[in-house]
Amino acid sequence: MEVRLAISGFGNVGQGLAVLLGRHVGAYRRRYGVQLTLTGVVDRLGGVADTSGLDPQGLLEAKRARGTVAGYPGGEDGLKGRGFLERSRAHVFVEAASTNFVDAEPGWSYVRDALELGIDTVLASKGALALHWSELMNLARRLDRTVLFSATVGAPVPSLQIAERALIGAEILDIEGIVNGTTNQILTAMSRGLSYQEGVRQAQALGIAETDPTLDVDGWDAAAKILILANATLGSALSLDDVRREGIRGVTKAQLEDAAGRGEAIKLIARASRDGSDVVASVKPESRPVNDVLGRLSGDDMGVAFNTVPLGQVASTVHPAGESGGISTAMTVLRDVLNLARDRGWSQAPEG
Ligand SMILES: NC(=O)c1ccc[n+]([C@@H]2O[C@H](COP(=O)([O-])OP(=O)(O)OC[C@H]3O[C@@H](n4cnc5c(N)ncnc54)[C@H](OP(=O)(O)O)[C@@H]3O)[C@@H](O)[C@H]2O)c1
Repeated sequence: MEVRLAISGFGNVGQGLAVLLGRHVGAYRRRYGVQLTLTGVVDRLGGVADTSGLDPQGLLEAKRARGTVAGYPGGEDGLKGRGFLERSRAHVFVEAASTNFVDAEPGWSYVRDALELGIDTVLASKGALALHWSELMNLARRLDRTVLFSATVGAPVPSLQIAERALIGAEILDIEGIVNGTTNQILTAMSRGLSYQEGVRQAQALGIAETDPTLDVDGWDAAAKILILANATLGSALSLDDVRREGIRGVTKAQLEDAAGRGEAIKLIARASRDGSDVVASVKPESRPVNDVLGRLSGDDMGVAFNTVPLGQVASTVHPAGESGGISTAMTVLRDVLNLARDRGWSQAPEG
């Protein structure tokens, strides 16, 4: 079946999606029986919607040439919001715009509009989940729509899938993870002798850290991720203020050397655990043995470990393959789209 996609945001992730659709759409049709067709894309300045389908390469060229997808034939400056979604007639809306932890816009408005229009939603942005978890989940439930968000918790680590599918029936006691590649990269550089500032600059030069790394180094990004993981898998309804948060600015060379002397490494660990009937979550630097599942992760590696009964520790780690973050995050978004298509019965038997 044809599955129509609309995307808000055409930066690293949105463009990564266009690249991957250009590469793989034929293979997905053959393998999964779904024809993924882009019918709408919007960025800050405008957008384009066409139910007969948009050419991914043409969108990339329009963005390069005019700085906005409104430059694609038929595109419109200022196209946005509910009107854009209606015109795309999408089955799935992908939220891949920049966000914030103050009002979660523009994603929060887009997600509500999409759900109210009967459109299932896949999120790459964390704002709406971090600030409006309960309202969002209640809305999706009431409207019988699906909201998937595996790209928001340390894409491409398949943490949510493990919790929801592989650990079904087991009891998850706690979750711990290195869910922010930027801080792990900086701490790794510092453990090799660089200062904090040098580590930040190196991560920026590698394209891993943002020009303003505040959300990463002060633990906001990791806090949002652990709250999403905790709410999705431990049944809590935490908000960002509930997560105790300490970033990596205070980590000193002396602490790193001390840890190394004990065969340990300092890592920014995000954790959520049960405390009676409550769930508590935190982000803080911790010293870990270098041979444990998280302590051994270096550079921008990421991983999540679930401590469970009766299975013990079940973990998933990712060593990035060298593709840009936008491509691997876009792949994670597509994973959600394809799983959604399968769960909704939109996939058909593959061609023989
Ligand atoms: N990069 C990653 O690996 C990664 C991983 C996990 C999650 N995420 C999340 O995914 C989202 C996108 O990340 P990114 O790296 O692609 O960011 P990015 O490169 O900064 O791109 C952000 C995009 O959002 C668009 N945008 C901003 N305000 C908008 C609005 N009001 N309406 C429509 N579009 C708007 C921007 O438009 P213009 O192009 O016109 O400026 C841009 O295309 C972010 O929320 C990020 O936190 C990213």
